[in-house]
Amino acid sequence: MKLGVMKETRSGERRVACTPTIIKALVTAGFECLVQQGAGEGAWFSDDAFRAAGATVVDHDTLLRDSQILVKVQPPSVEEASAMREGTTLVSFLYPTINTDVANALQQRKVTVLAMDLLPRISRAQSMDALSSQNNLAGYKAVILGSNAMPRIFPLLMTSAGTIAPARVLIFGVGVAGLQAIATAKRLGAVVEATDPRPATREEVESLGGKYLAVEGAEQVVIEGGYAKEVSADYLAKQKALIDKSLAMADLVITTALVMGRTAPVLITEDQVKMMKPGAVIVDMAVEQGGNCALSKVNETVTAHGVTIIGQTNLPSLLPQNASELYAKNIQNLLALAAPGGTLNLDMSDEILKGTTWNLS
Ligand code: NAI
Repeated sequence: MKLGVMKETRSGERRVACTPTIIKALVTAGFECLVQQGAGEGAWFSDDAFRAAGATVVDHDTLLRDSQILVKVQPPSVEEASAMREGTTLVSFLYPTINTDVANALQQRKVTVLAMDLLPRISRAQSMDALSSQNNLAGYKAVILGSNAMPRIFPLLMTSAGTIAPARVLIFGVGVAGLQAIATAKRLGAVVEATDPRPATREEVESLGGKYLAVEGAEQVVIEGGYAKEVSADYLAKQKALIDKSLAMADLVITTALVMGRTAPVLITEDQVKMMKPGAVIVDMAVEQGGNCALSKVNETVTAHGVTIIGQTNLPSLLPQNASELYAKNIQNLLALAAPGGTLNLDMSDEILKGTTWNLS
């Protein structure tokens, strides 16, 4: 089958859904690969590198006309969806319940989507899990962005001019992004504390050398499928009391707290920001879901009460090379299941394919 790699069009998006290395593997697996001109340039993969890997580089219209499977990172725009050939299969992020206009346009064009955001988060699907691969990188980049905005270094430094104490980093939420943020901050030499309502995360935090801040005696933390499904007001109040001391001492705070299917909980109020050290930095990774800090703004860096609050979205796109490499590998692994030997075969008795396939036509 002909597989086409689309160039991303969303503002600021630098990733590409396939890298030359993965194109080579897909050609070997039986696909005929087309790549849109300039698709990889944001991540420094040239058209020539794609050609050398066995792809044909084509313009946008040829790509849409000739491809049976299209691969992409960001959900298409309504215009992109409307331009797709009827019966095409698209592999990309979609978020159909949020992007309803796009979903309608795709339905009209009878485009079947393997939606990376709908992939079941089960062990067998781990190698295809693009949310995890991308959020992992985002957790790393959040620490780097935060450190760059800090007026201090991370590690303990003993010099003839005196000793510099290590930076203190506080992390809310020990999911994929939070774990990588802990590991990165530790590697840079910080003292790291982290909190999460899921008790299982204690061991993970400690194994990375962090200190787990446990909210004792709180009611109603409902865990489902390994995710926090419901966190009570009682929990949030007790968490606030526990965290205030750490917050007041922190040089960098990374917030990644998310409750399944809800807007992000506000864990740092304006009054708490006022208690923080002058020069401290907050990176609010949940800013697109409403934010964990009351003062964060989408895609803005705000300074309030002496604290810098970073609300950068799409952190994986700031690491376009690695993010594309991992995403492309996720796609390759999904296609090995969805199109063995280069021919699409969406077997709906397979839990992964059933969960991921949207609008089977
Ligand atoms: P995840 O679902 O694996 O982790 C979220 C964690 O928050 C869970 O472990 C959950 O138990 C925890 N949590 C819930 N309530 C909490 C509370 N009151 N206090 C502390 N922790 C709490 O999600 P993942 O993959 O780690 O992503 C984290 C966040 O980062 C999400 O909001 C995601 O959308 C965002 N993100 C943002 C990016 C950006 O560019 N800004 C890029 C990637 C992810």
